[in-house]
Amino acid sequence: MGHYFTNDKLPSNVKKTECFVLNNKFVFLTDNGVFSKDGLDFGSRLLLESIPLEEVGGKILDMGCGYGVFGIVLSKVADCVVDMVDVNLRAIHLSKRNIEENHVDSISVFESDCYSNINSKYNSIITNPPIRAGKKVVYDIVMNAKDYLLDNGKLFIVIRKEQGAKSLIVDLKKVYDVDILAKKKGFFIIKCSL
Ligand SMILES: C[S@@+](CC[C@H](N)C(=O)[O-])C[C@H]1O[C@@H](n2cnc3c(N)ncnc32)[C@H](O)[C@@H]1O
Repeated sequence: MGHYFTNDKLPSNVKKTECFVLNNKFVFLTDNGVFSKDGLDFGSRLLLESIPLEEVGGKILDMGCGYGVFGIVLSKVADCVVDMVDVNLRAIHLSKRNIEENHVDSISVFESDCYSNINSKYNSIITNPPIRAGKKVVYDIVMNAKDYLLDNGKLFIVIRKEQGAKSLIVDLKKVYDVDILAKKKGFFIIKCSL
C-alpha cells in the first residue's frame, strides 16, 4: 500500500475543503495521496495558532508543504515571502492551485527532497515532518534546518508524543535552544532557535 508521500497510482479525487484559521477563511483543494485529505489537520492548526506571528516575517520555508496550508496561511497573515517544497508531486500541484484559490502571492512552490533543491536561507522554517517517511528523513529536515536559517532564524515543528516528540526534543537540544510553545491532545509545538 502506498503512503501519502508516494501516492503512486492512487486515482485522483480532488475535494474542496474550507477552514477558518487566524480569523481568515481559507479554501484548500485536497486529493487522495496527500496528507490530511479531509481538511486541515489538528496539529497543523495548532502550530499555526501557537507560533508568534511577529517572529515569522521575512523569508519562510514550508518544508513538506502538502497541499500548502502553512505557507498559504502565513502568506495571508504575516508579512512574508514563502517557499513551499515537497517530494509529492500531487501535493505540489495542489499547492499551486491553492495559492490561486486563496488569492495569495509571494509564494514559490517546488520539488525538493528535504533540502536538496534549497539554495537560500530563511528567517523561519516551518514543518509538520513526514513521520511515515522514516526517522532519517525527519532528522534530515529538523537537524539540518540550522544550515538554512539566517542569523536569529527559527525552526517551528509540530510532532505528536507517540511519534517520538520527547526523544526528538532531547536531540534538538543538542543543536538548538528549544522552547515548547504548546502541548495539546498529544501534539507538541516546538520552537528551535539558533
Ligand atoms: C505530515 S505532512 C504535512 C503536510 C502539511 N505541511 C500540513 O501540515 O498539512 C508531511 C509532508 O512531507 C512530505 N515529505 C515526505 N518526504 C519528504 C522529503 N524527503 N522531503 C520533503 N518533503 C517530504 C510529504 O509528502 C507530506 O506532504
